[in-house]
Amino acid sequence: MSGNLPPKVPHVFDDAYRGAIAAVLEEQSPNDLIGAHQFRGSERDRVAGAAFVARRLPHSPDPDRMIVCNGTQSALTMLMTGLVGRGGALAIEALSYPTMHQFAGMLGIELCAIPMDEEGILPDAYEATCRNRKLSAYYAMPTLQNPTTAIMSVSRRQTIAEISRQYGVAIIEDDIYSLLPRDVPPPLSSYAPEISWYILGTAKAMAAALKVAYIVAPSPDAARSRFWPGVRATYWMSGPINVATVSQLITTGGADAIIDAVRAETVARQAMVSQRLQGASIGALPEGLHVWLTLPPELHRDRFAASVRELGAEISTSDTYLFGEGDAPNAVRFGTGAAPNRQEFERGLNAIVDAYNR
Ligand SMILES: Cc1ncc(COP(=O)(O)O)c(C=O)c1O
Repeated sequence: MSGNLPPKVPHVFDDAYRGAIAAVLEEQSPNDLIGAHQFRGSERDRVAGAAFVARRLPHSPDPDRMIVCNGTQSALTMLMTGLVGRGGALAIEALSYPTMHQFAGMLGIELCAIPMDEEGILPDAYEATCRNRKLSAYYAMPTLQNPTTAIMSVSRRQTIAEISRQYGVAIIEDDIYSLLPRDVPPPLSSYAPEISWYILGTAKAMAAALKVAYIVAPSPDAARSRFWPGVRATYWMSGPINVATVSQLITTGGADAIIDAVRAETVARQAMVSQRLQGASIGALPEGLHVWLTLPPELHRDRFAASVRELGAEISTSDTYLFGEGDAPNAVRFGTGAAPNRQEFERGLNAIVDAYNR
């Protein structure tokens, strides 16, 4: 229960994926497809990517602003290297995606944690950090935040965008959890497109190991200068067969069918959570892949996680996600999609509920 992967939906995914890969191999010469690097992705893949991100952005971006990446992690390390660099400083939510610790350590980047409330980062604290530190960028997850499930309001997005613009801080927005919910605000990047690098990965809405994520750069020139020419590393690129298959899914409606099936299974599992944990303080959206459970003070998160483990399931405590100073909140996170089927999910949920009621 600790991962926040999308639930598997083989009844829809398998046929859609088989059909897409067969069409790609039928329509294109495999050697043409794979014979040479496609920096930033082929024209066809960037056009499909522009259509895909238009699910979230107000307009379909110019395909020359698109970069096709081998997953969000590759996009993040490229942007952290290019926009921030060794010795530079990156703002981050006080509770956030734990892998950012590893990336920052590996790349020699200082992380400046910004305190949060139930919407996300606090504008005053962000502005104070911008004033006192030379921040190069802000790693933002304003929609269904990991781990807290916070969703930033439109007015907070506008304020954060304005502060970023005022202090020349680039926005690196990771919108990976936004495709399942039907009613969430537009991306933060849409309020400051000229300084934003918007990333929309497929890992949380379609399949965790699809390894395709799209970046929308602030401009075609910015996309070219950060990702080619001159950037000799090629590790960020998605395998051509992989991305061609995803492009096919996008253009034929297969991606919609998969996302709809993942959403439906997620909604069913979240309904079980709200029914079984009635009265508990839970942060969750019906279409969310994770649940943020705040525990009563007498039930310490470490003791709770140990009880859940004893009962046969794994969950993670808030400490895993902590970037700020001081103690982490007394909360845990668990995922709705990692269990391989509904029965296994129910078994894991029983462990959590039993430990909670002990
Ligand atoms: C916020 C966030 N970004 C990115 C990722 C990973 O994305 P990808 O597999 O596309 O690299 C995760 C996975 O847990 C995540 O939680």
